[in-house]
Amino acid sequence: MNGTTNRARIVLVTPHVGATPTGNRVTAERWARFLGELGHDARVVAEWGGEACDVLVALHASKSAASVEAFRARHPRGRVVVVLTGTDVYGGMERDPAARATLARADRLVVLQPRALRALPAELRAKARVVRQSAERPPFVEMQAADAFEVAVVGHLRAVKDPMLAARAARRLPSGSRLCLLHAGAALDVAIGAEAREEMQSNLRYRWLGELAHDDARRLIARSRLLVLTSRSEGGANVVSEAIACGVPVLSTRIDGSLGILGESYPGYFEVGDEAALARLLDRCERDARFLDGLRRWCARLAPTFAPEREREARRRLVEELVGGVGVADRRERASAIVVESEPEFIRLADSVARGLERSPKAYECCWFYDEAGSRLFEEICALPEYYLTRAEDEILRAHAAELVARLPRGVALAELGSGSATKTRHLIEPLLARDGCLDYATVDISESALEDSARELLARHPGLAMTTICAEYDDGLALLARSTRAPRLVLWLGSNIGNFHRPDAAAFLSRLRAELAPGDHLLLGADLRKDRARLEAAYDDAAGVTARFNLNLLERIDRELGSDFDAARFDHRAVYEEVEGRIAMWLVNRERRTVRIPLLDRTVELAAGEAVHTEYSYKHSVEELDALARDSGFRVAARWFDRERLFADTLLVVEDA
Ligand code: AVI
Repeated sequence: MNGTTNRARIVLVTPHVGATPTGNRVTAERWARFLGELGHDARVVAEWGGEACDVLVALHASKSAASVEAFRARHPRGRVVVVLTGTDVYGGMERDPAARATLARADRLVVLQPRALRALPAELRAKARVVRQSAERPPFVEMQAADAFEVAVVGHLRAVKDPMLAARAARRLPSGSRLCLLHAGAALDVAIGAEAREEMQSNLRYRWLGELAHDDARRLIARSRLLVLTSRSEGGANVVSEAIACGVPVLSTRIDGSLGILGESYPGYFEVGDEAALARLLDRCERDARFLDGLRRWCARLAPTFAPEREREARRRLVEELVGGVGVADRRERASAIVVESEPEFIRLADSVARGLERSPKAYECCWFYDEAGSRLFEEICALPEYYLTRAEDEILRAHAAELVARLPRGVALAELGSGSATKTRHLIEPLLARDGCLDYATVDISESALEDSARELLARHPGLAMTTICAEYDDGLALLARSTRAPRLVLWLGSNIGNFHRPDAAAFLSRLRAELAPGDHLLLGADLRKDRARLEAAYDDAAGVTARFNLNLLERIDRELGSDFDAARFDHRAVYEEVEGRIAMWLVNRERRTVRIPLLDRTVELAAGEAVHTEYSYKHSVEELDALARDSGFRVAARWFDRERLFADTLLVVEDA
């Protein structure tokens, strides 16, 4: 490492260095370029030959196994990143002992799209990060003639790409079709090259262009009406990001690598090898402008995810996690950020809406309440006279913070789940800092902006505070939260957020949390208590109608994002306390029978008169239920505090020795 600037020497190992660059080689060159721009000294080799370096980045788990093993043997403390490019993640990596050893030796694993995380064994997931391959629209793009319908296929001619499928599908199109397939790629498999040449003789809708320079391939994609990806397997195809960046919609095989980029419910998929289904999709795209436009709008929503700045930032964060930041003289920076990339919010929303409409009764997930308008409305809810939860918990924390802190060992670290603006956490940060002089605070939230804002404000106010912000969903955040702090810890899960989990899910979640913690660690759990119906229903159906607007805003969001016409004005808000289950159920009730179209999902939904769509459960707990929950998930209740009216409880749980 070079002095205080943390300019790292990085060697990238890519197994194949031949005349025709394969995906791995191209990926390695991209890494080298991006890392160079970040101020590091990066170079690409085919095999690690003892070059001095701080970080070894190896592409492909099994093909780079020898390099990783040799590097580890020589530099046990050196840093190793393994980039899982595709044929390894989806190519039976778990059955290859060399690949498994490489994964175990790595400090970080990188995948190209978030779905690949699920293909990893659970114990490897916490060290895996998603780095998407970015793309940019080329500056000069030729237009194709208005009456032409040119479609790009970009990929080398080898079996895994099923390269002739699109040509065969094009043969099935009706005689009036103007579609022309332009296929770019080197004949890595000579026999398939011969097949392509032959196909051109008999199929007027097919032209094989041979291998194109990268810029020419990008221009070809940019001028096309569609990109078709026929691969049998991909880790996350770069051509799909190129198309998205160019505003060109994609038709793809339903493979994990594409599902992770385009989402589960994207309407442009066909099954692997199914030329008839591809022909139907091509035909529809050519004839149905609204369908094609829906695909285009979907892909356009994803374009920001593939911006080069995001890729640069993801790499910067990754290297910084390993060796610290370039130009940072004080290595003990007070705020470090971990971002666990998941599918873009748009995809998660679209997939969740599509799934929810299949259920009976139809249901939306309550996490979608919180767009900008919804978050503002939630802040308003927290200040409503009827919504006592926030005030009650605030009262508890103010009144009992000193007592709570006195129960915790010196040097305890704070870790928080779903911190949002961390308003209530301040009641604990101050006394902990006053006692210990310094405090490590790690916090997980799904909103990067909420994390950044609260970190900036807290760090400015409290010189002794060191923060790790983790932008992730709860499930991913759990392990990272524990790993970003050292025992003894106090984990905070406040605000009755547990109430939005079904009871068995809450117990399972707490058990998972417990498994990440060490004996002596504490959890402070804020939960709303069971109480009389009138009080509860008023809290979720207030006189000023703020909760109604909060609920209805969900439909406005869906209409805005998916182009649908649910029209919130045609629904009523309903909140009912279900006493046996001990939960508030919130619904959106459709007044008149009608059919709603959702263009981006390419589907219609029948709504009956009076049909209620479910939006949220908010579970309430008795003291006994809280005790049972603690016991079942491996905690012991150490203390419990109530507000003066006994509406809400904060329970201090402790992890006992195994
Ligand atoms: C965030 N969550 C704990 C709130 C609750 O009370 O369940 C969300 C909410 N829904 C309606 N009002 C508030």
